[in-house]
Amino acid sequence: MTARVTRVAGPTTSVRGLFGVALNDLVLVGEERLLGEVVRIEGDLATVQVYEDTSGMRPGEPAETTGGPLAAELGPGLLGLVLDGVQRPLEALAARQGDFLARGASLPALNRTRTFRFDPALVPGQRIRGGEVLGRATPLGGPPGRPETVLVPPGTAGRVEGVKSGDFRVDDPVASLEGGRTLSMMHRWPVRRPRPVARRLPPDVPFLTGQRVLDCFYPVACGGTAIVPGGFGTGKTVLEQSLAKHASADVIIYVGCGERGNEMAEVLDEFPRLADPRSGRPLLERTVLVVNTSNMPVAAREASIYFGVTLAEYFRDQSLQVALMIDSTSRWAEALREISSRLEEMPGEEGYPTSLASRVAQFYERAGRAVPLSGEGEGSVTVVGAVSPPGGDFSEPVTQSSLRASGALWALSADLAHRRHFPAVDWGLSFSLDAPRLEDWFRREGAPDWVELRDEAMRLLQRERELLEIAQLVGVEALQDSERVAIESARLLREGFLRQSALLAADASSPPAKTVALLRAFLHFHRQAADAVGRGVPLRAILDSRLDEQLLRLPEATAAEAPGAAAAVTRAVDETLASLEAVL
Ligand SMILES: Nc1ncnc2c1ncn2[C@@H]1O[C@H](COP(=O)(O)OP(=O)(O)OP(=O)(O)O)[C@@H](O)[C@H]1O
Ligand SMILES: [Mg+2]
Repeated sequence: MTARVTRVAGPTTSVRGLFGVALNDLVLVGEERLLGEVVRIEGDLATVQVYEDTSGMRPGEPAETTGGPLAAELGPGLLGLVLDGVQRPLEALAARQGDFLARGASLPALNRTRTFRFDPALVPGQRIRGGEVLGRATPLGGPPGRPETVLVPPGTAGRVEGVKSGDFRVDDPVASLEGGRTLSMMHRWPVRRPRPVARRLPPDVPFLTGQRVLDCFYPVACGGTAIVPGGFGTGKTVLEQSLAKHASADVIIYVGCGERGNEMAEVLDEFPRLADPRSGRPLLERTVLVVNTSNMPVAAREASIYFGVTLAEYFRDQSLQVALMIDSTSRWAEALREISSRLEEMPGEEGYPTSLASRVAQFYERAGRAVPLSGEGEGSVTVVGAVSPPGGDFSEPVTQSSLRASGALWALSADLAHRRHFPAVDWGLSFSLDAPRLEDWFRREGAPDWVELRDEAMRLLQRERELLEIAQLVGVEALQDSERVAIESARLLREGFLRQSALLAADASSPPAKTVALLRAFLHFHRQAADAVGRGVPLRAILDSRLDEQLLRLPEATAAEAPGAAAAVTRAVDETLASLEAVL
């Protein structure tokens, strides 16, 4: 007996007669066989959330289960793809059908006609287990690509009967196991289930962002999580994109989730043209873009972050360092809210489902650093999730649930953005739980005094805040020179160290050596100027000496030039202050 659609309410449909169907199974709904996911089962009635526009669909149309949950295709050829929220390759679809996607359009994520040279890593007779390396795949034809690791699907176990080497497509059998099972270079994995690892590793290596304010004050570990909440126009997208370009990751998974259509069009237009600062090759060669605009159906938007994290885990399992950027998780939460309200579930805070906090937490738990099942090397998934709180109000449920689930808060301030201080990271509000565990690394690889310099800078900013409060009451003139020198030094630190323009090529990314060179120079100025003032040099004379201009030009130095430039400014500070003291 065929299952039938009994009710259509937007993307939410009811289907009777899907026997043996399980929650989260995929169903093809209606004459057009639109893809949907089972979100509720009551007796023989299933509620199916369809990923596409259902207009025109009527009760009585047939439906059919695919017999499995929503799953991602994993295999060679993923890098460089632009996928939609349910992993359809947009470029290939557009080439076939024009820019406007027809409903029911289906194309597998991985190109079935492309060939790879497969070099096996196994021999007949060998016992294998899931997650082990099956071989390497080198793309043939088209632009030259790096060989990719091919994994035995997790959950597989057996003895190898035969292996092939040569040119194959992703779904051709390349190995057979005793008992008749065959393996190809690709496999499928249910996106809502975390992929297993052999062993989790402690988060004690930093995920270097190239942003001074983050790496110095609020560093996140490889395998850690950070959220970036910020009101409208505070720089979330610019920050996510500069991390995509400059952060210490081998692979970037960028999920554009339900942002405005034109913003996604910009990403699609811009990303393929970006050059990888590491190699000069197109950045897209080590990126997978998952894009979902707000005009795509909510269910696909809801699914997109799970596809994103599954792809990220797949590359982690190849012992790669992966960064998963999501812009913005709020649109995902809104999709969740919309689905929940269609299902007439009991709403929680602000209409979000009561499960919001646990879903957010489960999602961020998929980040981590681990030894993959292969036992070879280590990989990581670091998640940076933008949050768009309405009205910039961080007390709303999505920001709050994300805050509890993540290891770092990089809060963007509307006030700083308004003053065009970018990145508009609020150094009073942000925090990192990972920072203490990363101190050893920064002492070892950054500078022996990294932590002391950081603490000194923090104290200076804190002191500025206190002094400015007093100044508001009594006026700056009423402050003593020794206090005003702290205010001036803090201003320089903010403008020349914390501030970092994404538009200035030399400063778009600041590696630890540049970061620490600048920090030393700014703090040296503060210490020496405070001493000089203490010995009677008038503050006015120091301010007139134009040392500030030299300090504020330091960010323009490239990473290679920065240590030399900082040393020169430091000398200038010493000489100028000595000559001012000499005329006393
Ligand atoms: N690091 C930066 N350096 C220079 N300019 C920046 C930087 N970050 C943001 N800006 C400026 O701020 C503008 C807005 O940034 P962005 O689009 O990233 O904000 P957003 O938080 O994503 O906004 P929305 O809420 O609309 O998504 C940019 O177009 C740019 O002019
Ligand atoms: Mg944005």
